Amino acid sequence: MGKLSEKVALVTGSSQGIGRAIALVLAREGALVLVHGRQASAQAAEVVREIEAGGGAAAAVFADLQGDDGPTELLQQTDAILAQRRGDTGLDILVNNAGVVRRETIECVTHAEFDRTIAVNLRAPFFLIQQSLARLRDGGRIINISSMGARAAFPSMAAYAPAKAGIEALTRLLAVQLGSRGITVNAVSPGLTDTAMNRVKPGTPAAEQVIATIALGRIGQPADIADVVGFVASDDARWITGQCIEVSGGQSL
Ligand SMILES: NC(=O)c1ccc[n+]([C@@H]2O[C@H](COP(=O)([O-])OP(=O)(O)OC[C@H]3O[C@@H](n4cnc5c(N)ncnc54)[C@H](OP(=O)(O)O)[C@@H]3O)[C@@H](O)[C@H]2O)c1
Repeated sequence: MGKLSEKVALVTGSSQGIGRAIALVLAREGALVLVHGRQASAQAAEVVREIEAGGGAAAAVFADLQGDDGPTELLQQTDAILAQRRGDTGLDILVNNAGVVRRETIECVTHAEFDRTIAVNLRAPFFLIQQSLARLRDGGRIINISSMGARAAFPSMAAYAPAKAGIEALTRLLAVQLGSRGITVNAVSPGLTDTAMNRVKPGTPAAEQVIATIALGRIGQPADIADVVGFVASDDARWITGQCIEVSGGQSL
């Protein structure tokens, strides 16, 4: 029996990267995982196949979270799958992981880029949580993937960092509001992690420069982040709420 058996988890942006690793960990612990991508893709289908091949349960859902209707469309698909597989539309774990970043200082950020960054990283999680409240079972989990940029000053994250700071503020206030239902709300804040979003070529001066800022002396891997999310999702973390847990190997200490 895994730590999450009988649980249902929705992980946004789990077609690749950190979200994919989170989906694999939650499924390994027994959750039925809804694997989400922006649009139907071989990558999302592959994550579902990988989970099923390991004896787990998963299904793919797709919605572009940049648009106003993204959260509604996503939950409509989720409802249909859960009604069929479980007989109800209840969720236990919501992981807001989907995100986008474009590295630009403030002078270079256009209105369109600012709006896109806020839409995917903050507005979509906000309304996805709002619309999930009636579906989330008491004792559930909301886990928001933030970024070190919310707290440390990286000028090239001019639009992204405020969006992530917003998700951390939302995390704290929801922890208070939802505590009476036993729902914990936490943020996990990765340091530099090797994904499509933040690929650093091994052995290059850029890689060496960034590794020099990390106490544990290497770049993070998606599984480093996912294992912590798996812990926060489990009953072992029942007394942790309203927190932002940095998972960075000790970056920029
Ligand atoms: N990698 C890092 O160093 C790092 C550091 C700190 C924080 N983070 C955070 O960790 C999270 C995951 O990042 P990652 O590195 O794993 O990135 P990634 O590999 O680029 O994956 C991003 C995921 O988000 C989804 N996504 C992007 N735009 C979307 C949209 N408009 N609608 C729906 N889904 C969308 C993508 O779906 P598709 O594949 O279908 O496009 C993909 O599944 C993000 O919130 C990011 O800000 C990452």
